Amino acid sequence: YLLGIDLGTSGAKTVLFDTVGVPIASHTAAYPLRQPRNGWAEQDPHDWWRAVQETVGAVLAESGADPSSIRGVGLSGQMHGLVLLDAQGHVLRDAILWCDGRTQAQCDEITDAVGRERLLSITANPSLPGFTAGKILWVREHESERYERCRHILLPKDYIRYKLTGEFATEVSDASGMNLLDVRGRRWSGEILSALDIDPALLGRLYESCEVTGAVTHAAAEATGLSPGTVVVGGAGDNAAAAVGTGVVDTGKAFTTLGTSGVIFAHADQVAIDPRGRVHTFCSAVPGAWTVMSCTLAAGLSLQWFRNNFCAAETEAAANLGLDPYELMTAQAERSPIGANRLVYLPYLMGERSPLLDSDARGAFIGLSAIHTKPDLIRAVLEGVVYAQRQCLDVFREMGVDVRDMAACGGGARSPLWRQMLADVYGCGVKTAASAEGPALGAAILAGVGAGVYGSVAQGCAAAVRSGGVQAPDKTRSAAYEPYYRLFCELYPALRGSFR
Ligand code: XUL
Repeated sequence: YLLGIDLGTSGAKTVLFDTVGVPIASHTAAYPLRQPRNGWAEQDPHDWWRAVQETVGAVLAESGADPSSIRGVGLSGQMHGLVLLDAQGHVLRDAILWCDGRTQAQCDEITDAVGRERLLSITANPSLPGFTAGKILWVREHESERYERCRHILLPKDYIRYKLTGEFATEVSDASGMNLLDVRGRRWSGEILSALDIDPALLGRLYESCEVTGAVTHAAAEATGLSPGTVVVGGAGDNAAAAVGTGVVDTGKAFTTLGTSGVIFAHADQVAIDPRGRVHTFCSAVPGAWTVMSCTLAAGLSLQWFRNNFCAAETEAAANLGLDPYELMTAQAERSPIGANRLVYLPYLMGERSPLLDSDARGAFIGLSAIHTKPDLIRAVLEGVVYAQRQCLDVFREMGVDVRDMAACGGGARSPLWRQMLADVYGCGVKTAASAEGPALGAAILAGVGAGVYGSVAQGCAAAVRSGGVQAPDKTRSAAYEPYYRLFCELYPALRGSFR
């Protein structure tokens, strides 16, 4: 067996797979997202560790698997979050997450200290509020006492690695999202660390995603039920792990994730950088390869926000019927026509990253009238999220990134309506990933490579990834969406001033 642990934003998901990628047991445990101020987003790393212990325990109990038959553990997780530990390995503050928008001032300082062009050429990205470096500077400036006690800086999944193995380590795909890595050279950038006066000793040891980074300690074995000595590989940021789990490991292949965030991710054999920095360039989990990726901040989050605030009845009905509340919501959206009776939703609930790069942007329903009903509002949310992905895809197309073969994954991709919207609005076929477990499967495959079960990531994908059916675009529907997409693109520039 192989174990994949995916530390998401809404919860942790642990899945036990056999070596041909069949999920044997899967368990998810949720944890809260704290928003102490408008635009801030934090989580308590202790909640993550509790969720990991619970889900690993549940998966072992449900499968009845002998823990010593697990060949390796792979970690995947939400990227960019800042975890600070003191000399004893204690958490110094709640983690500041990828979707937190507080650090624009620090990002400007970074750009000034390093120089925009230099930063783009070394880290392959501009300094962005979602990324980790600005968060480090923010803590140093606003909570200097805490920062002085900090001895280890980790990314979210790497905190779980520390709890499992006692090692302070990370790997290239996730480290790419810190603004501190030399993305071409796949090593920490001494030049950037010294320009920002960050002690390199604070950062973990850097590995490739499929390398072994340590083994489960006795204490962690007791806490989780895993067998002491089980190897833990680097793993990958959630998107890079999803790429492995959906077989996006060759040029031309790409996927869209509708998770809390909305991501388009394409494999690249060479470093390709958008000079305007609207999409990200990161190291791939495949050694010697890179990726181009866009990230919109509130995809699934938009629907979750709508559900939490306006769909108590649907949530209750779903609980009584044993259904997923989102299914009831998307069924309502199907009663509204394309264009939601001329209602457009802007999904900038947390500001926006790709392609706008504006943490002050905010969401909006535009065109509300007394004819609109809840089905229109839900449909507008689904459409707005899809238009935001299409805007990113248009940047990929402008850069000449080869995106021939598109898959869909993440919780939102379970909805046939949402997937069909992607196909119609993109104007290309969208494959369903056969496994809903994308990131966890990717992490497990990487574990299999590290443990010697597979000879390479490509071999692991060939053995363990299957793809589902393709949803083809419908020409008439594509044409019907097009004017609304154009309208969507016009709205943010028109409203930008009013968000400040
Ligand atoms: C990617 C990003 C998100 C997180 C959350 O740059 O910020 O996709 O990884 O899952």
